[in-house]
Amino acid sequence: MSSVLVVGSGGREHALSYGLNASEQVKKLYVVPGNAGTDGLSKAENAQVEHSELAAFCKDKQVDFVVIGPDAPIVAGLGDELRAAGITTFAPSQAAAALEGSKGFATEFMQRHGISLPPSKVVYDQATAEEAVVTFGGPAHSVIKADGLAAGKGVFLPDTEEEASQAIEKIFAGEVDGSGAQVVIQQRYHGPEVSVFVLSDGLSHKIIPIPCQDHKRLLEADKGPNTGGMGVYAPLPKWLLNDDQLNKISIIADKTFAGMRAEGNPYESVLYLGIMLAKELDGDPIVIEYNARWGDPETEVLIPLLMQNGVDIYEMLHATATGSLASYMLPTAISGTAITTCLAVPGYPDKPVTGQVIHGLQKHYSDVVVFQAGTKHADKGLVTNGGRVIFVTGLGDGLREAQTAANQAIGASAIHFDDMQLRRDIGYQALAPTN
Ligand code: GLY
Repeated sequence: MSSVLVVGSGGREHALSYGLNASEQVKKLYVVPGNAGTDGLSKAENAQVEHSELAAFCKDKQVDFVVIGPDAPIVAGLGDELRAAGITTFAPSQAAAALEGSKGFATEFMQRHGISLPPSKVVYDQATAEEAVVTFGGPAHSVIKADGLAAGKGVFLPDTEEEASQAIEKIFAGEVDGSGAQVVIQQRYHGPEVSVFVLSDGLSHKIIPIPCQDHKRLLEADKGPNTGGMGVYAPLPKWLLNDDQLNKISIIADKTFAGMRAEGNPYESVLYLGIMLAKELDGDPIVIEYNARWGDPETEVLIPLLMQNGVDIYEMLHATATGSLASYMLPTAISGTAITTCLAVPGYPDKPVTGQVIHGLQKHYSDVVVFQAGTKHADKGLVTNGGRVIFVTGLGDGLREAQTAANQAIGASAIHFDDMQLRRDIGYQALAPTN
């Protein structure tokens, strides 16, 4: 039996902790810093520990396995530090995490290894960046990306030359999250985006057979500003992602892990392939982004679906972190569907207003698992404590049942807080009557 520590405080970390908590292999779970949801898990305890003190904390508490959720500590090399202290850790090395931490590195890596991506150029000054925008057909046909981690705010889709120049200027001036010495300019392609997760232990890799789709825009029918993700559904219907496209994604994964190995940075843990099925390429998959972590809120559907299909989450993560993935069996087909719906505070994403009392969590909702993110205990009860507050995951045989289950658990007589924002249409593309 193992003592496990999860780093992070979002819905993703609640979902990972929920899966670990259910494993018979886990006797104790620490979540650093965790949230009000992780605090309520039977084996779990939230702990406030500085990342610089984590190795000592693990030794003190006899923690033998750490799972790191968020991008920032992964990209900062926390996984390397913990492994150097002899603690088995589920996280890529800092060098491998550059696939997410530097868009410039990821772009040139894909170009070196023949991995499909939109026509792209890494540039180091304003004039060359503006020339690249012209090369790709002008501002409305270009994407401008800051190099580093930007919490979704480092990507610009300009309409005019002025917008393009301003975006480039701001990035080079260091006024944008993720600003650095380099900027990536890409040709703008179009098409549905899907999220695919691949486990890798550095030697072998396995695709989790649950491709899913996030809903980045705040409002129903994909309107409003971009967010961290308002909901996810899985699995995807074959008309949206067919076997030929899946095979091509599998080749992208093969080339990515082989390329990282060849460059001396074998990739370990989970790689999130942000894929576009590009209309410009007759639906062929291209990489829009790599993320060196689990997706949020993708994890809130992946974990319940994997568990429902017999996967022990501890065994899956531990086999990956200990080089035993080749002999670890993931299910080849997944039964059931899941839809997670985010409840966000008013003002999210630009000016989130927090502190509202959350109601309805004590009730039982059938076919629903609730994951907390921005929540905390206060004198007046459980209150909101971040932009994205709660993820309500509905489960069902089909997507319609999963959507109904999630939606029935949200509302005035169910889970709610004042002025919450949500989308009740998660999965609408797959559920459209014409499809
Ligand atoms: N699904 C969005 C993200 O995890 O970045």
